[in-house]
Amino acid sequence: MQFDLNKRQVKLTEALSKIIQDEIGETYISFSKYMSLALYHPQYGYYNNLLYKFGSSGDFITAPLVSELFAVGLSRQIKEIFKRNVVKNILEFGAGNGQLMLDILANTKDEIKHYYILELSTSLVQVQKERLLKEKPEFKDRVSWLTELPKKFDGVIIGNEVLDAIPCDVVHWQNGKIYSKVVSFNADKFVFTDIKADENTQEVCKNIRQTTNNYTSEISLERMGFIKSLSEMLHTGVIILIDYGYGESEFYLPTRVQGTLRGFFRQHLLDDVLMYPGLIDITSSVDFTAIAKTAIDNNLELLGYTTQSSFLINCGIIQELEKRHKKCTDSEYLQLTNQLNRLISPNQMGEAFKVIAFSKNLDNVDYLGFSGNDRSYTL
Ligand SMILES: C[S@@+](CC[C@H](N)C(=O)[O-])C[C@H]1O[C@@H](n2cnc3c(N)ncnc32)[C@H](O)[C@@H]1O
Repeated sequence: MQFDLNKRQVKLTEALSKIIQDEIGETYISFSKYMSLALYHPQYGYYNNLLYKFGSSGDFITAPLVSELFAVGLSRQIKEIFKRNVVKNILEFGAGNGQLMLDILANTKDEIKHYYILELSTSLVQVQKERLLKEKPEFKDRVSWLTELPKKFDGVIIGNEVLDAIPCDVVHWQNGKIYSKVVSFNADKFVFTDIKADENTQEVCKNIRQTTNNYTSEISLERMGFIKSLSEMLHTGVIILIDYGYGESEFYLPTRVQGTLRGFFRQHLLDDVLMYPGLIDITSSVDFTAIAKTAIDNNLELLGYTTQSSFLINCGIIQELEKRHKKCTDSEYLQLTNQLNRLISPNQMGEAFKVIAFSKNLDNVDYLGFSGNDRSYTL
């Protein structure tokens, strides 16, 4: 697939390609290294360059951008957690264009002590700060940006579509052997090459129940490292992560022979994730079994795992819609109904997106969002 790029896009992707080629030299780099440069290079990386990517005119739309109702549901869960003697702090990872922060602040108001954000992209931090000052200046003294993980945190940690944006590696199973798909530069483009997987990769793959020959998929040591860091940092509180993905048995389905790695550009799904570095979003689904195992191994307790749809319904989002119906016009109501449909409908975001939550030093019972259809048993 080819796209018409403007001069600025061409300049940017050429500059980043050159930087990646220099990293590769005469050899190769791991795919996670490629993904990390393509998404997070400080100047040209996808999340750091200033080209617009959020919303219907960008490359993707996330749940907070679909509707404020997403934040309404999540805020209800957060407020319920705050009733359990948890310090009323929120720490949001990867706040994107700041929409979720603005909506959670509006829905938790005085029930929240402080809202922290840890965002890898310096340009997105700028967007978040500007939006806060312009749209919710009354909260400006209660929001701060962190530049590194705090040593200790008490409160609720949230992250929407962050795990999928953390780099992964690509693995290939063939004739009983495991290979890593690394990235080299050949005939003027980036290409995948198979090399024998290193010990770490072999170790992780040994525990994956995947038996199909000639099978490609992903693993992510960085996502596991991220969960480990959260667990070390959290003293008392809850972690809620929302993302698209599956438990291991569904993730490594025999039919999913090409894995889940994909690239997006202007809402188009690309067949080559190595094209246009810096211009395309690269992502892969989350293996929630790996996330849960890592969390449990690192002293977190699994609170629940369910679909976005069940989580939001459990949190009372339908009743919220009805409440709003009384206060809005029919056309506003129709608009809200359409947004809710997008968030919870099984063929839209409702089933593909999952919510997983962990706790530390808290009672592990009766959390609103997991009160029905908890699918933890599938992990
Ligand atoms: C797909 S966007 C989602 C943005 C936002 N949460 C939303 O739902 O609209 C992924 C975000 O995660 C950030 N990110 C990725 N890895 C991160 C990490 N390890 N720590 C903090 N932010 C991270 C990216 O910079 C980006 O803002």
